[in-house]
Amino acid sequence: MDRVFLEISNVSKTFPGVKALDNVRFDIRPGEVHALVGENGAGKSTLIKILSGVQPPDEGAKILIEGKETQFAHPIDAIKKGISVIYQDFALFTNLTVAENIGINETIEQKKKVVSWRAIQKKAKDALDFLNVQIDPNAIVENLSVAKQQMVAIASAVAQDAKMIIMDEPTSALSRGEVERLYEIIDLLKEKNMAIMFVSHKMDELFRVSDRFTVFRDGQYVGTTDADKITEEELIAMMVGRKIEVKRYANLEEKGEVVLRVENLSKKGNFKDISFELHAGEVVGFTGLVGAGRSEVAQAIFGISPADSGVVRVGDEEVHIANPAQALEKGIAYIPESRQTQGLVLPKTIADNITLPLLRTFANKLGIINREKQMSAVDEWIKMLDVRPNDPTMLAMQLSGGNQQKVVLAKWISTKARILIVDEPTNGVDIGAKDEIHKILRQLAKDGTAVMVISSELPEILSVSDRIVVMRRGRITAQMDNDAVTQEAIMQKALV
Ligand SMILES: Nc1ncnc2c1ncn2[C@@H]1O[C@H](COP(=O)(O)OP(=O)(O)OP(=O)(O)O)[C@@H](O)[C@H]1O
Ligand SMILES: [Mg+2]
Repeated sequence: MDRVFLEISNVSKTFPGVKALDNVRFDIRPGEVHALVGENGAGKSTLIKILSGVQPPDEGAKILIEGKETQFAHPIDAIKKGISVIYQDFALFTNLTVAENIGINETIEQKKKVVSWRAIQKKAKDALDFLNVQIDPNAIVENLSVAKQQMVAIASAVAQDAKMIIMDEPTSALSRGEVERLYEIIDLLKEKNMAIMFVSHKMDELFRVSDRFTVFRDGQYVGTTDADKITEEELIAMMVGRKIEVKRYANLEEKGEVVLRVENLSKKGNFKDISFELHAGEVVGFTGLVGAGRSEVAQAIFGISPADSGVVRVGDEEVHIANPAQALEKGIAYIPESRQTQGLVLPKTIADNITLPLLRTFANKLGIINREKQMSAVDEWIKMLDVRPNDPTMLAMQLSGGNQQKVVLAKWISTKARILIVDEPTNGVDIGAKDEIHKILRQLAKDGTAVMVISSELPEILSVSDRIVVMRRGRITAQMDNDAVTQEAIMQKALV
């Protein structure tokens, strides 16, 4: 029998009206990557909160660390017992240096009166060396890239003698090269006998890093399996309880008039000579490596950060959009990438969030909102996007990450813009909901919207687009109809 670092059973967690976890189990060994997988709302983040001492489980949970029964009263408690979490916002002190971040927890914890700068520096250097990363210990954290901040967070866990590191969707904000670097670090941590609990919705990366999978569905334990004994299809079937086919929706016949025409759009340091057209009724996929300039082009069109030169036409009219309000007036909506921060009012209900941009349309002449009308629209969106739980009175902050995503999408899609630009629309969304979102984008196109989808995920681009635009280093390198296009053909244009 392999040694086990952590073993839990009978773990349940009840929120008012929701059983987020129902009697689940999980175990992890030193030196393995054990991925926890499941659809949005399956209970993954909830388990992480329990294991990191942020929230207590319901009565009756059994938690063993190295064979000894234990419980976590407080996050510090979990850290002391060897469990560290790399949070999505990394929970770093961004105005302090790298060394201070790595070394300081211990100082705070031991309530030392005298802070030994030399000891802190050494601790930080050791941890960074351990991970084999080159980061200046004296750099201020907020000046580092997201990827480097993540490394600092991992180094900080190492410096606190973590035996188990939990990563909840750690690659969602990283570029492709940075993702590779993270994989290397994970390999290294494994080699040094660290146990890694990994949460992700991306199939390729789950199979790249994991030794074992445990699947939860709707808060219940489904099963645990070795990664090399299961196919992607089988894993998906365990997660969703049914088979999901990846469809190609391209329909090259149904194309209307040109609604957006972009000519030689340029912005110094961002993109150059961008020319393309969007037709009513089509979905155009913009792909390329992260950093190729796709989001910057979208943000220029939407007026967040206007271009230096070039022409944009909406229909026949040349437009000079200087801010998002003007873009909305012209019928252009843009759903940005980092939705959690830009898109939602967390303490408000699902219903309010979805209808925020639309409230006016539900009001009578005196400004009084017709609740019934509002609620029936909300119900429709919740059903269409399969938001779970399907209760419009839930607060946005009570939803799982992927379900928050769906609410933001609903909010913008419901504005019924003529031109809809969506940036990485399914980041953090589970495989079933992904297909739902693709269907919705297709439906919008069918109803006459011109849809521009920015995505780094090639299967997504191939599934949803009629036409594919590839960008590389700020320039368009190819535009092609999506018939018989392969991933390899796209990659080639994205790389060379
Ligand atoms: N504070 C809370 N109050 C009420 N319900 C909550 C709260 N936090 C989570 N939930 C519910 O618990 C369930 C599990 O959520 P959790 O965040 O653990 O899912 P997840 O597996 O991490 O999903 P995702 O892949 O979308 O991140 C969901 O139904 C969610 O709405
Ligand atoms: Mg989650």
